[in-house]
Amino acid sequence: MKIYRFEKVSSTQKVARKLIHETKSDKFIVIAKEQTEGYGRHKRKWHSPNGGLYASIVLKPYTKKLNIIPLAAALAVRKAINEICKIDVKVKWPNDIVINSKKLGGIICEAILAGEKLEYLIVGIGVNVNIEHRQFPSQLKKQATSILIVTGRKFKIESILNEIIKNLDAYKKLIENNLEEKILNEWRKHLSLIHISEPTRPLYISYAVFCLK
Ligand code: BTN
Repeated sequence: MKIYRFEKVSSTQKVARKLIHETKSDKFIVIAKEQTEGYGRHKRKWHSPNGGLYASIVLKPYTKKLNIIPLAAALAVRKAINEICKIDVKVKWPNDIVINSKKLGGIICEAILAGEKLEYLIVGIGVNVNIEHRQFPSQLKKQATSILIVTGRKFKIESILNEIIKNLDAYKKLIENNLEEKILNEWRKHLSLIHISEPTRPLYISYAVFCLK
């Protein structure tokens, strides 16, 4: 899969969108060391200093059950971090990556439509890898954490990304073979029901995934 690497961008999601229009390619990744306008769900700012993993993976929607893709992406990230960094991170509805009740990463899935047809998906992944506590703005210090803070060690961002891509591919194969149930089971197994206080996220939504089938 082609990887476009940048030092600093506004947002890898925005760059991916631009590259889709320019190249018409449906299989590539954009990564950057830093973002100036990184964003998450609900248009929240995604704090993106040097030291984080910021990636946007462009794919053709390969299943009609689109709900499963963000979950598979969250699991792919969880597994990669567990395997490489040896820490027990969890997923939190809908697609946060958490540890010790703090947010370590997040996923946003955006669709590119051509008329009514869904043409591309851009899966945006942000993980706080080598970020120090002092690098978080004060309003995030309580609810955010990083792999560095948890382990006291720095990790190679590209190694984590490669593992995420490998895992995503494995989940894609499960989906293509109609084995989504396996993904849902894994997701439930690693689900954290702990609430991280964020005003627009009610607790009850943690249970909604059980209705996804
Ligand atoms: C969330 O938790 O709301 C999702 C956060 C997703 C952030 C990533 S960082 C890489 C990509 N580029 C962005 O601007 N956002 C996503």
